[in-house]
Amino acid sequence: MTHFKSIVAVAHPNIALAKYWGKRARPGNFPAVPSLSVTLDAMTTRTSVAFDEALDADEVTLGGVTATEGERGRICEVVDRVRAAAGTTCRARIVSVNDFPTASGLASSASGFAALALAATRAAGLDWTEERVSDLARRGSASAARSIFGGFVELSAGSEDGNESDVLGARVVAKADALDVRVLVCVVTEDKKASSSREGMSQTAAQSPYYTSWVLEAPRMFDEMKLALAQRDLARVGALVERSALAMHACAFAAGVIYVRAVTLELFEHVRALRKAGASAYATSDAGPHVKVLVATRDASEVRTTLAKVPGVLRVIEARPGPAARAFEEGQP
Ligand code: PMV
Repeated sequence: MTHFKSIVAVAHPNIALAKYWGKRARPGNFPAVPSLSVTLDAMTTRTSVAFDEALDADEVTLGGVTATEGERGRICEVVDRVRAAAGTTCRARIVSVNDFPTASGLASSASGFAALALAATRAAGLDWTEERVSDLARRGSASAARSIFGGFVELSAGSEDGNESDVLGARVVAKADALDVRVLVCVVTEDKKASSSREGMSQTAAQSPYYTSWVLEAPRMFDEMKLALAQRDLARVGALVERSALAMHACAFAAGVIYVRAVTLELFEHVRALRKAGASAYATSDAGPHVKVLVATRDASEVRTTLAKVPGVLRVIEARPGPAARAFEEGQP
């Protein structure tokens, strides 16, 4: 009888500074454009995985509630790959908790699939490199590939064709201290988003008249941002952060995919006004209405106070560039 350990993995969400939006047509969840993110320390997903021969089926609990069929399907697909690699058919008990709202555009799928990929591979006894674990996380959610790593992280676009099994993991481009910044996450709802990023991307690719331009332009913004980051030029990185977010949303908007709400745009306006007044602050938002603000550490407290007062903002979470995902045996500190 095989003895498996119960493993807990902890991972943090990441915010894309240069956005990924759109997938390659080939199977395997390969992104159509490269992306660059920063991992956040202030929010955490904690996932435990225990393979157990006594189980007839995978048991999946998310935030204390049994997973829906859809959630279960995506999670089991990742765990099936681990089972295949480890040569086992053993079912698993999977328990995951976030300390922040789930599925509302706060990158919970990024930290969720990163923690799952890491916990499941370690629990199955696989001694995979971070790149391979990142590749596995990408199959659940492409942004999750980036949450395996800390600091500033890139995920290249997948090539247009190739094998489903081709490995594409993220990698670190700069350490957490490369920019002296904070990320202010302005939470504007606790609700789940109306359409998942997966649906939003496929609708955008099928219906947006601007999708081809986005796929051409996104790599240019990514390259420029990478250069600006290497030069530790926050103003340049920040300008590109806003451009990337607005280009992504404009492209999606034209396909009828609307994640922003009035308060989202209000917050972008406030950040611009703060910038005019001398603060080094730059706004971005993802597949949900929240706004995340990249801000120089010296301006963080003033910007935070102002944004927290904007009607519609429920709270502001302040994060620093954070660490990589990590795993340990259940019961260990
Ligand atoms: O990987 P997904 O399916 O969670 O999509 C992420 C999409 C964005 O958050 C909007 C952009 C990104 O690069 O994270």
